[in-house]
Amino acid sequence: MELSRRSVPVAKPCFDAEEERLLLEVLRSRWVTQGPRVEEFERRFAEVVGARHAVAVSSCTTGLFLALHALGIGAGDEVVVPSLSFIASANAILHAGASPVFADVEPRSFNLDPECAAAAIGPRTRAILVVHQLGVPADLARFEKLAAERGLALVEDSACAVGSRLNGRPIGSSQQVGCFSFHARKVLVTGEGGMLVTPDPELAARLRRLRHQGMSVSDLERHRAERPLIESYPEVGFNFRLSDLQAAVGLAQLAKLPAFLARRRLLAERYRAALAGLPELEAPWAPPGTEPNFQSYIVRIRGADAERRNRVIEQLQLRGVASRRGLMASHLEPCHQRARRADALRETERAAAQTLLLPIFHELTESDQDYVIDSLRAALDA
Ligand SMILES: Cc1ncc(COP(=O)(O)O)c(C=O)c1O
Repeated sequence: MELSRRSVPVAKPCFDAEEERLLLEVLRSRWVTQGPRVEEFERRFAEVVGARHAVAVSSCTTGLFLALHALGIGAGDEVVVPSLSFIASANAILHAGASPVFADVEPRSFNLDPECAAAAIGPRTRAILVVHQLGVPADLARFEKLAAERGLALVEDSACAVGSRLNGRPIGSSQQVGCFSFHARKVLVTGEGGMLVTPDPELAARLRRLRHQGMSVSDLERHRAERPLIESYPEVGFNFRLSDLQAAVGLAQLAKLPAFLARRRLLAERYRAALAGLPELEAPWAPPGTEPNFQSYIVRIRGADAERRNRVIEQLQLRGVASRRGLMASHLEPCHQRARRADALRETERAAAQTLLLPIFHELTESDQDYVIDSLRAALDA
């Protein structure tokens, strides 16, 4: 059955002549690996998110791993994390040699529930990995208090949260180490890429070395030095570098962040108004004091099971509208089934079965959005 020739993707990065110009500049400079553009991108990104230090990395997954590794978290340690997250959150913990302990989420924000996180802490727990899910800020103050009381590290998975604000302050400006993603489905896109942020200068310096094979000086420092600089390798590092090609795209994107956020918020508001007429659907919720970036637009089909949700996704697809299941439950995946669960993860499993993501991106037109909404109405009734 073909219902439509119209085609609306679920996400689409927005590039224009500025990305092309900056990218060409890098190509012409011949410095295509981590160099001056990465340094500039780090400086500008730190300013935008209110961080003291920013360290560019190849992805948010490698960045989260590096943060845990640099904090000394490894074999025998446990890290409390929501199961309801992209699998990268839990994977980063395993990569560090530690074990994820899954705790449940709040049903409306889809963020880690502080009480469930507290109940998940055991004698081997060393850290909490809190996720600002889909760009909705988690209740940082409560997690900071919990971590301080229990002597734990707190790491922010801010993969989705560039431009989101909590009590007027941008995500990235806290006293914790955190990491952002620039994957193609994020608000700010460099293709692949990530950015660690931290207020701690020593941690930042170590993260810089570790992403570059543990080398004591950067290529840029060596290049700029008046005398030959011979590097050393005090510890074993990794290749988690971002390239100047990616940083050039990131710089162009960063300048457009306010416009990206304004457009997404407007589209989210249009969805919210339309969804008020579809009582079967629950629109996303912004907890008091939060300003989400609407990286994604998640809706819950009330009372649905996964089969019903999947049928709606299929019906949307028949109408040319791409959607995706909303959030995954990592503990239900074979590779994480043996991880410790702090509780029954009831809200996690409910959210994983009932949610889906609707198209939202900078260049989504009002007309296409109206078409998505009409298609959704039809899909629910089909
Ligand atoms: C919550 C969360 N954490 C981590 C990641 C991983 O980001 P990256 O693809 O940059 O490694 C993602 C990506 O979607 C994510 O949504």
